[in-house]
Order: sequence, then C-alpha cells, then structure tokens
Amino acid sequence: MATAQATARTNIALVKYWGKADLDANLPAVGSLSMTLDGLWTTTRVSFEPDLARDELQLDDQPAPEPARQRASRFLDLVRQQSGRTERARVVSTNSFPTAAGLASSASGFCALAAAATRAAGIDLPAPDLADLTRRGSGSAPRSLLGGFVELRPGDGCQVVQVAPADYWDLRLVIALCADGPKAVGSTEGMERSRRTSPYYDRWIDDHPADLDRARRAIAERELPALGRAAEASCFKMHALAMSSDPPLIYFQPATLAAVQRVWHLRAEGLVGYVTIDAGPHVKVLCAAADAEALAAELGRVDGVRRVMIQAPGPGVEVAA
Ligand code: PMV
Repeated sequence: MATAQATARTNIALVKYWGKADLDANLPAVGSLSMTLDGLWTTTRVSFEPDLARDELQLDDQPAPEPARQRASRFLDLVRQQSGRTERARVVSTNSFPTAAGLASSASGFCALAAAATRAAGIDLPAPDLADLTRRGSGSAPRSLLGGFVELRPGDGCQVVQVAPADYWDLRLVIALCADGPKAVGSTEGMERSRRTSPYYDRWIDDHPADLDRARRAIAERELPALGRAAEASCFKMHALAMSSDPPLIYFQPATLAAVQRVWHLRAEGLVGYVTIDAGPHVKVLCAAADAEALAAELGRVDGVRRVMIQAPGPGVEVAA
C-alpha cells in the first residue's frame, strides 16, 4: 500500500520570520534561524487509498476540525500534483503536546505531513525541493526537516541549512506555558496585518539580514550572551510589528510579561537566560543546560505560569515506510 510515517520535532525561532513575500505561495519575506527541539514532536502516517472520497485527517485520536482538514488537503493536492497520484489520503497524526496550545504544532505537523506524504506517494524529492514543498504548508515547518540549529533562506523558493547539529552546543529552551487554549489571531493573519499596516515593516525587512548574521556568528563562537541578545532583539522587534499593526495585535498575557521580567531579574543576579516569544503567550528561555533546572523552578513560581518544560536541541525529521 502507498503508506509512510514520519516523525518531526517542532522548532522555535531565535531569529523570527514575520511577513510573507507572497501570500498565495506562502513564501516568507525574511529568513529565520531556529533550534529544533527534542521532546515536542508530531508523528504522522499518510496512506493514499483508492476508495476514499476525500482526504481524511485524524488528529490525536479525533477527526480534525474542518479548517485543519482542508488545510492538510490543500497541501496534499501539491503532493498529488508533484507525484501524479490521484487517490485521496488518510492522515493520522499525533502530537506529543497539546495541539492548540501555541507550541508551534504547525511546524512539526507540516514537516511530518510533507515527509510522510511524499514518501507514501512514492516520490523521493531532493532536499531543496522537499524544503520548498514543506514551506507551502507552514513557513516555519521546513526548519524541522533538520536537527540542531537551522537557518531558513527564502529566495525563489525556500532552502534550509543546518548551522550546527544538535550535539554542537549544550543549550536548553525552558518553556513556560502562560495561558490555556488556542491563540486569538493566527500567524498568517497577524503577519499580513503587520505587512499592510505597521509603519515599521520596511525597517524590519531591511534590518533582518544583519539580525541573522549576528545570530549565525554567535552560534559559530558558542557565545550564549550574543545569541541570547540577538534572539531577544528579534523577538521584540517582531512583537513591535504586531503591536504597531492596525488594529493592534498583542500576543502577551499578564503571565507572559511576568515571566519576562523574572528572567531579566534573574539574569541581572547571575542566572542567565534569554527570552523569546512567538505568536502566542508562552515564554521560551534560552540558557545553558546547567542552568535549565534552576530557571524552570523559578518560572514555575511566576504567577499565571501553568506548566514548565525543558527542551534540548533535537534531531531532524525521521521517515519510515
Ligand atoms: O509557520 P508559521 O507561518 O505559523 O509562522 C511562524 C511565525 C513565528 O513562529 C512567530 C516565527 C517563526 O519564525 O517561527
């Protein structure tokens, strides 16, 4: 049978992407640089079945909500186009973490779907073509194809490059969950709003290559303060774009700011961590492995923080027949 399974870890951007050069083609307007995580993953099995009337998507043992099924189905259309297959597919996907919690499930989800669907369809795409296909599902998803520290470079299409493997540097991301439930405004809508209305958007685009350079250099030199400062600068520039959009977008909750203040206070006292925040309320803290437990304990005591997790750099996508 035309079936295959893939497991992809999620990734968190240290230099963010925000804004699309082409909305229909889902092409990011800027590059990005992320760390693939070891413990937050999606496993997806795809089977092309002649008897199916439409693509079916099961997510964590439930039929997926219709918008998610349609989004996966549009992505499968691209795989059918490239492979010449015509059958509909059954997709069974499981996350190791709550799907709608704003923990970058679209990155691991679309990475696993792209890898499993192409293998099931019988096409063995060269790495650059697989990266470019994966980005059609989600702009952050191609970064999960590779392990460790990964840069995404948009051009005509999208390429991903491993800046350093998972075992290169013993860093951790401590994740503080600062709210329950899904985010209010999705990243695609938020990015478009910023592109159309933020007075700072052009400056963001102009400065972005320098932000990437700074992070790349910090990784090459294993300089945590330099990487951390680059990550914080990129994160708050992205959120400044969101906040300066019309109407404004604020992804933070009170617990988000409380956690950020705590991390900065601890840093001044010598427990060193640097924050990053995506299009949601959770705070992710980059730190040395040796400091992760202490930071996690501190964050667990912040008012409004629901749960804390420690993540190490993880591997790239794994595919099985
Ligand atoms: O992959 P998308 O289109 O959901 O966008 C992700 C956007 C951010 O997480 C905010 C930044 C990033 O580069 O991952």
